[in-house]
Amino acid sequence: MHAVGIDIGGTKIAGALVADDGVIVAEERRPTPAGDPAAIVDVVVGMVERLALGHRVVATGVAAAGFIDSAQSTVYYAPNIKWRNEPLRDRLRERLGMDVTIDNDANAAGWAEFRFGAARDARDMTMLTIGTGVGGAIVTGDRLLRGGFGTAGELGHLRVVPDGLPCGCGARGCIEQYGSGRALLRMANEIADAGGIGLALAAARERAGALDGGILAEYIAEGDPGALHALRQLGHWLGQACASLSAVLDPELFVFGGGVSIAGDLLLDPVRESYLSHLPARGYHPEPRFVVAELVNDAGVVGAADLARIHAEAATS
Ligand code: BGC
Ligand code: NA
Ligand code: ZN
Repeated sequence: MHAVGIDIGGTKIAGALVADDGVIVAEERRPTPAGDPAAIVDVVVGMVERLALGHRVVATGVAAAGFIDSAQSTVYYAPNIKWRNEPLRDRLRERLGMDVTIDNDANAAGWAEFRFGAARDARDMTMLTIGTGVGGAIVTGDRLLRGGFGTAGELGHLRVVPDGLPCGCGARGCIEQYGSGRALLRMANEIADAGGIGLALAAARERAGALDGGILAEYIAEGDPGALHALRQLGHWLGQACASLSAVLDPELFVFGGGVSIAGDLLLDPVRESYLSHLPARGYHPEPRFVVAELVNDAGVVGAADLARIHAEAATS
């Protein structure tokens, strides 16, 4: 039977009707309404109703970009969306009259990669999603790690710089401030300001008014030295974070998802290089694989639908 998966990110909301083998039957995308959590609920309800129309649907799974409680009902806090103790599951259940479960967006994406994507042959994997924020997911011994309060795998808030840049989570120096798509833009702007290899980026910024993800992707693809330098800096920070994560989790494989991961080896090469130079017991510790997500933009909706189906089946058996 089908399930609906919804992925609420800082900039867009994606929805899909998903079959139980992870195949997407229909999908939709909308921008995330800024500011008002009630407007987000409206968008999600509309999407689920359209996607489910004419199908038998077991449940809806919602992947949300924030800290989720262990009952999978409330978003405790979201760094990039205005959710504070938001009872998202109940708001949606009331409107939809259907079983709803909430998961962290990166946990859902990681679960999809583990079940159907880049990590389908692994038992222990760590995923980092590189988008507006940095998300994380941990699968250990074939299980998604949720922690004591539900929020395990908030890897974007691993501290990499003592007293570093302030983060949307309220702390300082989190990898999200050095390894996200937003951080990449900040680095590209700094490189543009400095002249030299940043001259082409500076000219692009002048023409467009501001740099954005699309311009950066274009300059990275063309091999612009300024844009590549920004991506290398990002990779170096992420590699350091992965070295620390190996000390805690020792995954066989690191999967990189989110928009920035489309850069492929241009991102993974500097990640690997910096990982190896920061790895505890380096030279003696087996090297994990670093790969790019296979489901990329669909991982969140596919994982959310699968987790909701598993949840619904456990409840009825
Ligand atoms: C949030 C996470 C989320 C990630 C990616 C972070 O800022 O804390 O909950 O998974 O962004 O959206
Ligand atoms: Na997570
Ligand atoms: Zn943080």
